[in-house]
Amino acid sequence: MDYLEVEGQHKLNGEVVISGAKNAALPLIAATILSDKDVILKNLPDVVDIKTLLKLLKMLGAEVEYDNHQARINCANINSTKAIYEIVSQMRASILVLGPLLSRFKEASVSLPGGCAIGQRPIDLHLKAIEAMGAEVKLEQGYVVAKAPQEGLRGAKIIFDKVTVGGTENALMAAAMANGVTEIVNAAREPEVVQLAQMLNMGGAKVEGIGTSKLKVHGTGGEPLHFKEPIEVIPDRIEAGTYLCMGAITYSELTLKNINIEHIQTTIDKLEDMGCSFENPTSTTLTIKPPKQLKKVNIVTAEYPGFPTDMQAQFMAVATLADEESLIEERLFENRFMHVSELNRLGADIWLKGNVAAIKPVDELIGADVMATDLRASSALVIAALAAKGTTRIRRIYHLDRGYDRLEEKLQKLGAKIVRKKS
Ligand code: UD1
Repeated sequence: MDYLEVEGQHKLNGEVVISGAKNAALPLIAATILSDKDVILKNLPDVVDIKTLLKLLKMLGAEVEYDNHQARINCANINSTKAIYEIVSQMRASILVLGPLLSRFKEASVSLPGGCAIGQRPIDLHLKAIEAMGAEVKLEQGYVVAKAPQEGLRGAKIIFDKVTVGGTENALMAAAMANGVTEIVNAAREPEVVQLAQMLNMGGAKVEGIGTSKLKVHGTGGEPLHFKEPIEVIPDRIEAGTYLCMGAITYSELTLKNINIEHIQTTIDKLEDMGCSFENPTSTTLTIKPPKQLKKVNIVTAEYPGFPTDMQAQFMAVATLADEESLIEERLFENRFMHVSELNRLGADIWLKGNVAAIKPVDELIGADVMATDLRASSALVIAALAAKGTTRIRRIYHLDRGYDRLEEKLQKLGAKIVRKKS
């Protein structure tokens, strides 16, 4: 199995080009199910999760061509509406095909995703949304089996009692081809949700209130969507934030290209709290300049535009070398501190009480063998390894490959000593 070997304490320097956002690309790929014509998606990140969803679409009967960050997807001849366990268990986001399949084909069965390293992650809100639109939902042998009324899904008022990114995306896609108007209350406002809503508008549905927590979707009444223009995936705000953390912990000046600066504002604010400054910012690029000594940081994760839970582990790694104790409270997921014990193996001094972590500063981190446990936890280990004395070996990096596009190649270009090896 592949592992990463990192020799720490080398300064980084140079420019890194940020890839397209995995979490934006996934719902866009799922939304191609709503069309019976070619859809072109550009700036797709070269990561395993994208390949997994494209594979699922192929299994459903779609025509897929994928090369060089671009895909042509044609869902004219879909002949199955079943997302099997073997795929869904590899990637929970496969649940995103539920809404579009049901909306266009009036039926869908999707394997229940099952357990997950960062908590239970139920899908009850996804199901509540499609039920509100008239779907009948049953659980059969580990599958969610949903059927729309014969005349198709109908517009409804969907009130989410918790903000859910995937739930909002599924509701949007289900509503896009439904009859009548759907209102989504307490909708997620993440940039990835915004891009999906914009795509649906390009295809002929009408979504109002984009970027707010109240969305109104005028469905096409059964008419498939038609995306005439290619759609370019937005930059990955989590990948961008991860590289900023790498710059901070190694006290290196790094320039990020192809970012959307608005999307990473809370990350920038927290790094400023830690003493970093930012030079030459434009809407698509900026340079991080770390201080002489990193300062402590206090973080509470929240829905967008709050501080992203997907950046929590990376900041924890950086905070290990701050001047004073930092506190991080995780409010979105109940078990998203799997990286704590691995960071402690590298010499960090992190204490956990419930959903709060206290990160006591240490003088140095020291390389060790560690294990990646989930996607963002893995990148926290890379961040820590870059600053640790000696060599760190990070195992189970298939987590990292799910979401970071050519990580070691990009890092090598910045001067990091990182290699992929096989054991
Ligand atoms: C998405 C992101 C993930 C990010 C998360 C929160 C993708 C592919 N993944 O995940 O990287 O960490 O948003 O920003 O975009 N919940 C329920 N019932 C549901 C759905 C969710 O209780 O039916 C809960 C979850 O357990 C969690 C919270 O709502 O506590 C937020 O989850 P959600 O926003 O749905 O996360 P995902 O869409 O799975």
